[in-house]
Amino acid sequence: MLKLEKIKKVNGELSFKGDKSISHRAIFFSSMANGISIIKNLSDCEDVNSTIEAFKLLGAEFESTKEEMIVKGIGKENFKKPHKEIYCGNSGTTARLISGILANQKFESTLTGDSSLSSRPMRRIIEPLEMMGAKIYHNEFKLPLTFYPSSKLSAIKYELKIPSAQVKSAVLISGLFIDEITSVVEKTTTRDHTERMLNLSFELYEDKKVIQSSSKNYPVSQDYFIPGDISSAAFFIVLCLISENSRLIIKNVSINPTRIGFVEILKMMNANISIEEFGKSNNEPYGNIVIKSSQLKNVEISPEIIPNIIDEIPILSLAGVFAKGDFTIRNCKELRYKETDRISALCYNYKLLGLDVYEYEDGFTISGSIKNQFANFKSFDDHRIAMTFSICSLLLGNGGSIDNPECVRISNPNFFNQLKSIIEN
Ligand code: S3P
Repeated sequence: MLKLEKIKKVNGELSFKGDKSISHRAIFFSSMANGISIIKNLSDCEDVNSTIEAFKLLGAEFESTKEEMIVKGIGKENFKKPHKEIYCGNSGTTARLISGILANQKFESTLTGDSSLSSRPMRRIIEPLEMMGAKIYHNEFKLPLTFYPSSKLSAIKYELKIPSAQVKSAVLISGLFIDEITSVVEKTTTRDHTERMLNLSFELYEDKKVIQSSSKNYPVSQDYFIPGDISSAAFFIVLCLISENSRLIIKNVSINPTRIGFVEILKMMNANISIEEFGKSNNEPYGNIVIKSSQLKNVEISPEIIPNIIDEIPILSLAGVFAKGDFTIRNCKELRYKETDRISALCYNYKLLGLDVYEYEDGFTISGSIKNQFANFKSFDDHRIAMTFSICSLLLGNGGSIDNPECVRISNPNFFNQLKSIIEN
């Protein structure tokens, strides 16, 4: 249990370790490639560590220095049969993306995870991979998954049933082992790191994006610089906006357009945020963000932007609680399948503040005013819930407390130290 007190203001500068989604993919593609790749500013979070451990079992070698991670990749034909089950910890990205590789191997392998990951839906990747010819044993479409050796998989054209970058990536990564072209059709844009980092070609048809992969796109060794994690930055951005007389600069952070939807929404809410783009690294844009205290007002959130803001909804809802008017978010049932059921976790914690909370199957509405200026919040062992209500505690008259604050290590082990460096009591 961690107790936090109300702060006076926020002031300073922050930079973040590499974006989690981009870091996962840099480990994937450098481990798959033949030869040496060097990764700068790799995330040091537990989820990315799960990906590193998984690739060690498959034959990749890693050497980390203070500045960089040196990866000796496996090469397309040289994946090793793991001598034990591949444990993915809490990481959905590790489990779902690596399935695209394991489905194509000549050996048997099994994926496991912690209790949260073991309760998350895997049908979404099992179905398309089976359509390609994969042989997968599963526990009612959940982990553990066992991949059996199968003859060469076939290319498919697959239209995503749910907007999910993890499903899109699992299919496209599987397509890297096949000579014919695999296509993924997406109706709603999701984060596009896989296609950017692999330089995949895509076509736009009216409202659909068709992305293609084949063995021609199999990754080669290269150097990476990973821009800072925008999803980790989101918590500090909202804290600065709500705190009075505050100013914060966030440096070298990812500003990939498929990830900064929450900044667009905050700007519509009257937030004083400016973004300065510097350039691109491995096709991924990055820059600095300057944030100043603002009087926020709630706005309508359109359904198309939901996949873009999916990881930021917890902290965006906190901005909504401190903004003028009621906060409503709908069309985000996917939140129920994250590390915890985030709709119910958010509603539970907002009720502790005496707010009026209305829960829908696909979202929630928060209205009324905060009546309790102190609460013992529950993280549900979910890093983004823990960070949201740690920030909330810093804004309450009498502060607040949060259980299992250590779970922030899943995406940002530096969260509390970074907080300390910018808050003034
Ligand atoms: C991720 C995709 C998203 C996101 C997750 C990371 C990725 O999940 O919520 O934190 O790196 O591809 P879905 O694909 O399930 O929406």
